[in-house]
Amino acid sequence: MKSALPVLLGLLAWPLAQAEPLTLTDTWSEVNWNDVPVVSRTLFFPGKVSFEWLNSSRHPGFQDPFFEQRRCNACHKDEEYGLGNMLVKGSQDSYPGKMGALRLQLQIAHDNNFLHVRARWQGQANKPARLHSLLTLENGQWQPLQFNAPAEEAFSIMWDDGSIPLFSSQGCFLSCHLPQEGKPAKGQGPVLKNYLAAVGAGSDKFLPASHSGRGARAKPLKETELMQQQAQGQFADVWQWRSATSGVLGIVDDGWLLDSHYQDPGEPSVKLNFNPRTGEPIWMFNPEVQGRSALNKLDLLKQQGLLTLVEGHNTAPFDAAKLPKGALLPQYYVSRQQAHSSEIQRIEASWDKGIYTLAFKRPLDTGDNKTDKSLQAGKVYTFAIAIHDDNAEGRGHFVSFPISVSLNPKVDADIISRELNGAQNP
Ligand code: HEC
Repeated sequence: MKSALPVLLGLLAWPLAQAEPLTLTDTWSEVNWNDVPVVSRTLFFPGKVSFEWLNSSRHPGFQDPFFEQRRCNACHKDEEYGLGNMLVKGSQDSYPGKMGALRLQLQIAHDNNFLHVRARWQGQANKPARLHSLLTLENGQWQPLQFNAPAEEAFSIMWDDGSIPLFSSQGCFLSCHLPQEGKPAKGQGPVLKNYLAAVGAGSDKFLPASHSGRGARAKPLKETELMQQQAQGQFADVWQWRSATSGVLGIVDDGWLLDSHYQDPGEPSVKLNFNPRTGEPIWMFNPEVQGRSALNKLDLLKQQGLLTLVEGHNTAPFDAAKLPKGALLPQYYVSRQQAHSSEIQRIEASWDKGIYTLAFKRPLDTGDNKTDKSLQAGKVYTFAIAIHDDNAEGRGHFVSFPISVSLNPKVDADIISRELNGAQNP
């Protein structure tokens, strides 16, 4: 017989646990998550493993005649932890002390209108990531803080409905490439001018052009081909929660991936807090709301309370005369827009002694098939999940092998979404 003790202890601990909300106005999920099965997955540090490497004879799995049809996890069953620990050893220069793998608890449910997702994971740091890049005045110029620069953390789901060749077997590794030549590396150069150039240059995340992994060249497609692919829905949908920028407003950024990672149309909720004409930030904090006009080095260590510039809430126009020496200001500010991203409604985000809890819902069908995929019963979807933990950016994240998801108990998958009360198959 199962003991009721753990449940009782859990209930007793509940009122004592003081989870720190990570949003400005916190709302809580309407779903009773106790009714939804928890699926655990190990996410691992992928090192420098790229699509090109995996789909070449340097990867032993590539020799298998059925390599393309087989999922990573078919050959590497339960190897995530071992792979991550091995790969992280080769990256200790860039990520000293980083752990190799992370355990994720995932719950998926749906009702007639929404898909509900809940994720919980234990991060490596002993504080929540409430800061993203900061600006500081150095040698008379406002520029990004270089040393001990903070970075927010993120939870991302990249997913496909079977429209992208190889996605069901290789998941997010399809989008993982070595930096392309001629594109400035992220963070290159200390001056913001360079930074702006790098932002405009696009990312190294893209789907490979070839329809076959064998000898595939990660060459981007021509524009007409791209438009055709987009029209046919051959792109990945990408949802991304970011702890210290848009997440503060309760938004999960909604984007899509084809030859680059695009945000859905509409005004972005995260904007650069820098005016290139004046060479100065646009906003500082409003001391009447925030108690001070800027952040300082201590905030880097403590990461307590709201440290994000939220336009119209805690912002005041930048005024150099009112700033203390050594002032730090966020490089980005967030503003609530009638944004694309409001399609994904964030319900809950909190941090409790290292454990992040995130729950959000998204319409099964957003009505925009140019940049969103819709979810139906009967189909199998492939989710690939990434977590940027411990202030790591870029490849310093943990990734999952492909996870299959179905909304219908009759259609088998790794995760069968739980139908909530009254839900009929959509
Ligand atoms: C057909 C089977 C097969 C498939 C599918 C497969 N692999 Fe492999 N892979 C292997 C074998 C065999 C090795 C070498 C032995 C080992 O490390 O397990 C290997 C090695 C690796 C290594 C290097 C490990 C080391 O010891 O150096 C990585 C990383 C890796 N695979 C990742 C992946 C990823 C990611 C995918 C999915 C995109 C994938 N593999 C798909 C069979 C496969």
